[in-house]
Parts: sequence; structure tokens; C-alpha cells
Amino acid sequence: MNVTKMVRVAAVATLAIGAVAGCAKEDTGGTTEGGVTLVKSGALTTCTHLPYAPFQSKDDSGKVVGFDVALIDLVATRLKVKQEIVDTPFEGIKSGADLNSGKCDVAAAGMTITDERKKVLDFSDPYFDATQALATQTGKEVKTLEELAGKRLGVQGGTTGEEYIKTQVQEKSLKIEVVSYKDLAALQQALATNQVVAAVNDLPVWNEYIKANPGKVVVAAGFDTGEQYGFAVKKGNAELLKEVNAALTAARGDGSYDKIYAEWIGEKPAA
Ligand code: ARG
Repeated sequence: MNVTKMVRVAAVATLAIGAVAGCAKEDTGGTTEGGVTLVKSGALTTCTHLPYAPFQSKDDSGKVVGFDVALIDLVATRLKVKQEIVDTPFEGIKSGADLNSGKCDVAAAGMTITDERKKVLDFSDPYFDATQALATQTGKEVKTLEELAGKRLGVQGGTTGEEYIKTQVQEKSLKIEVVSYKDLAALQQALATNQVVAAVNDLPVWNEYIKANPGKVVVAAGFDTGEQYGFAVKKGNAELLKEVNAALTAARGDGSYDKIYAEWIGEKPAA
């Protein structure tokens, strides 16, 4: 081998190493056995917006756990990968931006299926029924929105609860000052510290909050909005959507859905 050739071989070898290293740094995704394309190889990447217990929140060790997490773990198992969770504002989730930009494969965020969101996301079969609820501090209950005239009512920005309240305020010309908070923790903090006299969010998150902080807050009124949660994938990602729905169907059939429900939500309401 002459010197020129040796140099060329070395150069090719360096290039090859560079390519491998580049690949590890900039993961261009991968495809599972079932033909599902993932944004990151070996993982099912989930976008969510923390905290939203009991659907998703950090446990004492900092691990994200909850009802949605457990269900998406079943999807990951089907795909023979591990779930990886990305915490990101709800706006980017519900607008489809995060899925479109490849930040994640699936969105799981206690997210209600709405016609508006259906235009920008493909939803799974419904996996949970929810309603809206109004919480107040214990001893400061109000039964109707009308009683909140001249007062501050907290909601969570970008959510169906916010939209419901804003619509009610408009339709009934209510003189309520509606204050939007960026996440559930900020909303609950505002209620606890009297920045608002009442707060609206999905019923199960209030039930969870009351379990964790007994005696402080009560659900004073409910609004039966008939909401259903769905997981979402990028528009057109039929392969992944099929797997999500198959995992849900299997979980309902083999008792794992009920087990996960009992673990994170509690008693099922009588049908
Ligand atoms: N269900 C409500 C909605 O879809 C609230 C969801 C908020 N979820 C969250 N992880 N922050 O608008």
C-alpha cells in the first residue's frame, strides 16, 4: 500500500466514524417492526404538560407517572420500545405544533377531544370521560357562576375549562373577572392563596388535589360538559394511531384498563 492510498483509507475511516457519531447525536428516528416511524429510535416520545395529576405528574423521585403514562406504556410495550416523556406547554400540544415539528410521537395530556383540535390532530378512541368542576376553599362554597359577580375566577390557559367559562361569561353577560393561569399548579396555588375565590378545571384533577390536601378545597359545583379524552398523533400518522387504539382495546379487554383506572382514578362511577 503506497502512502497516498494509506491516507485515503484513513480518511474514509474517519468519515465513517464521524457518520456514526453524527447519527448518535442527531437521532433521525427509527422504525419499529410493525412499520411505525418514531421521532427517536428505540423510544416512544410522549408530549405532555405537567403537572396534571392523576393523569401525569412527577412522583417523589421526579419520575413522571399517572393514568395517561400507564396507558401509553402499554403502547410502548407493543412497539417494543420505552416511553420517554417531554414536558411542554399545552398550547404546542393542542395546536399540533409539537407533533408536526417532531418533538414527540404522541400527545397524552388529559386532553379533551374537540372538533377544533380534530382539525390539527388525529385522536385515538376516547379513553376517559370528564366534566368541568368549580372548586373553592372549604367554607367558601358557591353553587352558581352568578354568585361570582364582581369576583375573580381562575382557569387554566388553553383548556376546555377556560373556553367553557369564557363562553358562559359572554352568553350570560356575567360580571366575573376570569384569570387564566399557565398550568394547573399555578391555578391551584392561586386558589390556595386567595388570588381567586374559585377555580375551574376538570373534575378528576380536583378530586386528586383534595385527596392530596384534605380539608382545604371542595368541589362546589359541576358542569356536565360531556368531555372525552383522547391521545393524539400527528395528522396522517395512521400506523401509530392504529397501535394506540389496539393497545387501548387490548387494555379494556384484559382488565389492565380497569386496573390502571383503580390505581390512578379510584372507584369507577356507576354506569
Ligand atoms: N381536558 C382539558 C383540555 O383538554 C385540560 C387538559 C390539560 N392537560 C394538561 N396536561 N395540562 O383542555
